[in-house]
Amino acid sequence: TTRSLFLLPGDGIGTETMAEVRKIIAWMNEAQGAGFVTDEGLVGGSAYDAHGVAISEGDMKKALAADAVLFGAVGGPKWDNVPYDVRPEAGLLRLRKDLALFANLRPAICYPALADASSLKPELVQGLDILIVRELTGGVYFGEPKQITDLGNGQKRAVDTQVYDTFEIERIAAVAFELARTRRNAVCSMEKRNVMKSGVLWNEVVTATHKDRYADVQLSHMLADAGGMQLVRQPKQFDVIVTDNLFGDMLSDIAAMLTGSLGMLPSASLGAPDPVTGKRKAMYEPVHGSAPDIAGEGIANPIAMIASFAMCLRYSFNMVAEADRLEQAIANVLEKGIRTGDIMAPGCRKVGTTEMGDTILAE
Ligand code: NAI
Ligand code: MG
Repeated sequence: TTRSLFLLPGDGIGTETMAEVRKIIAWMNEAQGAGFVTDEGLVGGSAYDAHGVAISEGDMKKALAADAVLFGAVGGPKWDNVPYDVRPEAGLLRLRKDLALFANLRPAICYPALADASSLKPELVQGLDILIVRELTGGVYFGEPKQITDLGNGQKRAVDTQVYDTFEIERIAAVAFELARTRRNAVCSMEKRNVMKSGVLWNEVVTATHKDRYADVQLSHMLADAGGMQLVRQPKQFDVIVTDNLFGDMLSDIAAMLTGSLGMLPSASLGAPDPVTGKRKAMYEPVHGSAPDIAGEGIANPIAMIASFAMCLRYSFNMVAEADRLEQAIANVLEKGIRTGDIMAPGCRKVGTTEMGDTILAE
C-alpha cells in the first residue's frame, strides 16, 4: 500500500517541529516498509512570501488529493500587516473549509511524568485520557444573520445566530460514537437544552443516532456549563465528549490546561467519509502557533507535532499499533526526565528540538 501525506510545515517553529516528524516517517518507511509517499508545500507567511497568497492553488490541490495533511503552524510578526485575505491564518481557514473538516478532535492526555505540570492536583489528572470532539463548521460562529446594527438612540445591537441542522449533528455524533468504540466506549454529549433550541435538537439527534446505529456505546448527556465544572472537578469520569462549535472551543481549552504545556497538545480535524472509498479527508496539527518568541532557536517542543502524527497513524491509516508505540515512546522519554524548556522540571535533563525528536525515535 502507498499512503500519501502532504506536509505543510508553515512558519516559525512549524518548520522545526515538522523536521522531527519527517525523520519518523523516513524511519517507518525504511525499517517497517510503511509506504508513506510524502510531498511538501508552503502555507502561511512562507506561502505569502513565495506566491503572495496564504496557500497556492497548486498546494490546495495536493492537500485535497492526499490521504492526510500534516500542518505545522502559521504566522509571525513579519506578516502582521499583510492584507487581510492573504494573512497567514487565511491558509489554515482555507484548508479547513475546502477539505470540509467538520470534526475537530482534541485529546487531553496526561502523561504520568507531567502530572505535576497540570493546573489540577496530580491525582486528578494522573492517567487522564479524554477526547473532545468539537463540531467545527457550524453553529454560532457561522450562522446568519451575523451583524451589528445601529438602533439610532445611541444604542447598537449585535446579533450572532446559532444554527444547526439535523445532518450536522448526526455526522458529528457518528464520529464521536465511532471513536468511542476504539476507546472506552463511552460518549458524553454536552449542550444547553434548558435554554437553547439548538440544544434541544442536538440532544434529540444524538439520542436518535445512538439508538439507530450505536446502541452498544454508553451515552450520557450533560449541560455544557455543568460539563465545564465536571472537567475540572473529576476529569477522569469522561472518555469521549461531543459538543458544538462554541462549547467545544471553550471546553477543549479548559481540558488543555489539565495536561500542562501548549507544546504537548495535538489535534486532528476530519471530514466526511468518501461515499466510494470510505476514506475521510483529514488534517493533523499541533494546537500551538508558530511561537515567534522562540522560533529559530532550536528549543521548541516537537511533541505536539509528533503526537499529531500519531493521531494521523491512528485515524487516517488505522495503524493502531504504530500509533500506540509512538505515544508510548513519548511517555517513556518523558519518564526518563528528558525535557524541552517548556516542560522542564527539577532534576530533568534539558534538550532542544532535534535531540527530543531523536530520543523519541530511538525509543
Ligand atoms: P503560540 O502558540 O505560537 O505561542 C504561545 C506561547 O507558547 C509562546 O510563549 C511560545 O513560545 C510557547 N509555545 C508554543 N508552542 C510551543 C512549543 N512547541 N514548544 C515550546 N513553547 C511553545 O501563540 P501566540 O504567541 O499567541 O501566536 C504566535 C503566532 O502564531 C501568531 O502569529 C498567531 O497568529 C499564530 N498562531 C497560529 C496558530 C496555528 O497555526 N494553528 C495557532 C495559534 C497562533
Ligand atoms: Mg479556542
